[in-house]
Amino acid sequence: MSDTPFSTVIIASNRGPLSFSRDEHGESAASRGTGGLVTALTGALSHGGVWVASAMSEDDRAFAEAHPEGYVETTGEGAQYRVRSLTFSPDEFDGYYNYVSNGILWFLHHYLWDTVRAPVWRADTQQAWERYVAVNAAFAAALAEEAERAEGTPAFLIQDYHLSLVPAFLRDLIPDALISHFSHTPMVGPTYIRILPTQIRRALLRGLLGADVLGFHSQAWAQNFLESARAIPEARVDFGRSRVLMEGREILVKEHPMSIEVAPMRELANAPHVAERRDEIEDMRGDGALIVRVDRMELTKNILRGFLAFEAFLQRYPEWTGKVRFLALLSPSRTELPEYQSYTEDCLAEADRINRELGTSSRTPIEIVYQEDYDGAVAAYTAYDVLMVNPVIDGLNLVSMEGPVVNRRHGVLLLSRNAGSYSRLRKYAIGVNPYDIDEQAEALHRALTMPEEEKTQRARGLSRLVRSNPPSRWISHQLRDLERVGTRRAWFNAGDRR
Ligand code: G6P
Repeated sequence: MSDTPFSTVIIASNRGPLSFSRDEHGESAASRGTGGLVTALTGALSHGGVWVASAMSEDDRAFAEAHPEGYVETTGEGAQYRVRSLTFSPDEFDGYYNYVSNGILWFLHHYLWDTVRAPVWRADTQQAWERYVAVNAAFAAALAEEAERAEGTPAFLIQDYHLSLVPAFLRDLIPDALISHFSHTPMVGPTYIRILPTQIRRALLRGLLGADVLGFHSQAWAQNFLESARAIPEARVDFGRSRVLMEGREILVKEHPMSIEVAPMRELANAPHVAERRDEIEDMRGDGALIVRVDRMELTKNILRGFLAFEAFLQRYPEWTGKVRFLALLSPSRTELPEYQSYTEDCLAEADRINRELGTSSRTPIEIVYQEDYDGAVAAYTAYDVLMVNPVIDGLNLVSMEGPVVNRRHGVLLLSRNAGSYSRLRKYAIGVNPYDIDEQAEALHRALTMPEEEKTQRARGLSRLVRSNPPSRWISHQLRDLERVGTRRAWFNAGDRR
């Protein structure tokens, strides 16, 4: 349980901790998100609080309309908090979520555009942006309402690029609110951010600067923000103390890498239904080796180059043919976006081609499971010899932490140097340039032929590093930052009255 000085914590994120579906009798049932972020954030609600999120599906929307006060949920530690979902019209949600959040801001922060042809800003960009603004304003209004109902001064913890404007909107509504915003993505640098239409770029930066504390998983992302903020005329950037001074306020820019909760992960890995899945995976491995990847079907994850690197490895070391398999567990993501649809097709087609060219009649080198399957992912974590985590760029990357704490074979982690987690795990991972097929092919060979002693030392080192940074620390650092801001502000206000 994280120790918080705040009687109420109010979290805001686009995707909430719960999703709703209807059973065969038409009754709504809530299911809890299994991701590391949900687990980490619920740690902040150990004294109760509220989590405000978007209703993401038709069923979420129906449930939210029937329960405007929200839904009472219990944390793993027995504390209760309320989940309140905000509903938007389909057009508004589409503009805010698909078009701007996932179609522009995700691409921006991950440097995904092929800039010779994209992006091209037109009138519909402006229209979608207005929807993003409206949804952000609605979030800020709901948060202000929740603050009125709260006892004492609440801490606001706002998450991610969907809600970049919420800090400034909320500041307008509650000038002395204690607000932190955390980016789980990378933060784009000062040159690339200029791709945005000028007014959108400025609005984004000013929106974030409404917070008291801006958090990032890596120092590189914090530095990018400071550099971009220099373009705001009224902001003074103090690189030495990693802060921005603006309109009489101090905005702290902090690096707080998140980690994962190890105990529930290990418990799940030991559960009988996961053990059954592990048996299936062991059958698939046979007496060979197993390379695993676990990802959303996501442009940033570099799935295609991962397959090409595996192909290059098999071509270069043909003695491994038939002796190693690559299991890719990929969950569908953002399927409304055309770029994701064609990327999915390309990944499946490429794996198919490699299987045709390098497979035997009884054994295909690559096995893809394209569905939501968390239990299967945890089973695969326990069984890998090599875990491939090669994103082109990633804010943090939880897979690189989840695998090593449950793996039972002293498996080796291949990790992109562009993942936020690399700065913490680099000593025990094999670092790779995610664009370089040859380097990744060689890294696979090195991992598969590594002496047992080195593998053991690396695997233990990774597990130790993850265990030493529990998510309660991530939360308590953020609350501590806000507490300091609050203390200082109270002191200044008292000075004004003196
Ligand atoms: C990233 C983002 C999260 C987001 C998740 C899944 O990790 O940082 O904010 O929830 O991707 O994406 P989705 O669009 O499905 O919520």
